[in-house]
Amino acid sequence: METFRWGVLTVILAFCAAKTAEEWKSRIIYQLLTDRFSQKGDNPNTTCSDLRSYCGGTFKGIEENLDYIQGLGANAIWISPTVENTVNGYHGYWAKNIYKVNPEFGTKEELKSLIAECHKRDIWVMFDVVANHMGRTSGCSDRSCPAKKLTNFTEFVPFDQQEHYHELCYIQGSSNQSEIEECRLGILPDLNQSVPNVRETLLDWVANLTREYDVDGLRIDTLCEVPKPFWREFQESAGVFCLGEANYYDRPRYLAAYQGSALEALLNFPLYWALRRSFNEKKPMTQLLDSIHLQKEIFNDTTVLGLFVDNHDFQRFLNMTPDVTLLRNSLVYVFFSQGIPLVYYGTEQLYHGGADPNNREALWPHLDNTTAMYQFIRQLADGRKSVGVDFGALNQKEVYVDNDTLVITRGDKQELLIAVTNVGKSQGSVQKSVGNLTDMEQGSVFVNIWDKTDTATVNGGVMTISLTNGEPKIFKQVPPTPPVRDNSSAAAIFVHPLAAILCFCVIVFS
Ligand SMILES: *[C@@H]1O[C@H](CO)[C@@H](O)[C@H](O)[C@H]1NC(C)=O
Ligand SMILES: *[C@@H]1O[C@H](CO)[C@@H](O)[C@H](O)[C@H]1NC(C)=O
Repeated sequence: METFRWGVLTVILAFCAAKTAEEWKSRIIYQLLTDRFSQKGDNPNTTCSDLRSYCGGTFKGIEENLDYIQGLGANAIWISPTVENTVNGYHGYWAKNIYKVNPEFGTKEELKSLIAECHKRDIWVMFDVVANHMGRTSGCSDRSCPAKKLTNFTEFVPFDQQEHYHELCYIQGSSNQSEIEECRLGILPDLNQSVPNVRETLLDWVANLTREYDVDGLRIDTLCEVPKPFWREFQESAGVFCLGEANYYDRPRYLAAYQGSALEALLNFPLYWALRRSFNEKKPMTQLLDSIHLQKEIFNDTTVLGLFVDNHDFQRFLNMTPDVTLLRNSLVYVFFSQGIPLVYYGTEQLYHGGADPNNREALWPHLDNTTAMYQFIRQLADGRKSVGVDFGALNQKEVYVDNDTLVITRGDKQELLIAVTNVGKSQGSVQKSVGNLTDMEQGSVFVNIWDKTDTATVNGGVMTISLTNGEPKIFKQVPPTPPVRDNSSAAAIFVHPLAAILCFCVIVFS
């Protein structure tokens, strides 16, 4: 009875401390790979010679460099899966023993110390968790491995029996949902969540993990590869905000269906692909607008989606397109549209690695908080924070689009105006007459948040803005001055001789 009571109390306390989706909307998440961010003691001379294996990053290394993350403006970190992995599982997605901390990253105490230090600084911690599969079986790297080895599960804890897994088959890339859910991703042994013992073990595990480490949120791997009802239970058991990876080709409607029926929040892969088409492939910006409209239609709630330009599974933005101006435009969209922005480590240092594992470079030779892109991201974070805590949820309106430029406004009174373009660096200056601002007061003035001398005024529901050298712009509406009380307009004109002259001119010339 006593134990029961304490148990209930613990659960209630844990639940109260957990950060809600609403609260996560005020966060900016820095995604890092624990093995690649920083070594303990920071030894910049050690380079990463084999990106397919461990390079030496640790929990301690992260803790020692929280200033760098905070200085960038991030107030949450997404770290690699923390559990012990099979050989070469430097990324963390190849679990061997789900109850042990990966010794390559440090000890349990070091992990707890990192989290405590983060919380002291109001940085929230997001664990990455995998419940679809376990790691590669020893000595197997591809499907040519003998089936006897591929189905030898004795090294895994706690799932060491054939009956814990689906039959051996591989995801071939079809849209057959039972293939996606029951077959192997790569050669990774696919857990059968329909087995009661597997299901309950995973649910207990995640409940204990979030509570033991005081985790603020989870990033959940491979959503499409497990039936949706399992994820609803998993999220409930975790008791924290869960951001899921529903990523199986660019199929927006299929992916969006995972919000609500599986998890509350998802990474916005449809937006990722749309940004890539418009900024990397330079397809018309009208396609980005079409995608935004589609997202509003198919997602339950676009305000809790995680937005990103780069991550660990795609070649980096600058690998596809070396024009940093285009990267800045894409980042402005990620930071200022509806949702929760994420920055993948290394973007701030203009990393340009190709496909996995080249997009997983070591950061420690470049932990430099003075570079232009680091400062730019800091400015984006500051700009976002200056507007208010629930920035991600602010009303969004698309007010202008053509082939190369998209303009959106944010807020009920359209307090912010964000213009992004894919013309690129070499295009000189473009001028746009942004319309659809008819519900905005005539004469409303907007000021560029980075340059107070750059202003634009609404005139007849239209505002003219110029974008220079392909750079994005963010404008903030100047709050209207309160109306003058008790003064008739005639009196006001007397008070302001300049106004009187202007008025005279208007009368004469009209
Ligand atoms: C399964 O793998 C373990 C090592 O992980 C090995 O000791 C054992 O002999 C293997 N069993 C079979 C049937 O191959
Ligand atoms: C998964 O487990 C369920 C429940 O035990 C079982 O009925 C089903 O056949 C298993 N699926 C596969 C593909 O092994």
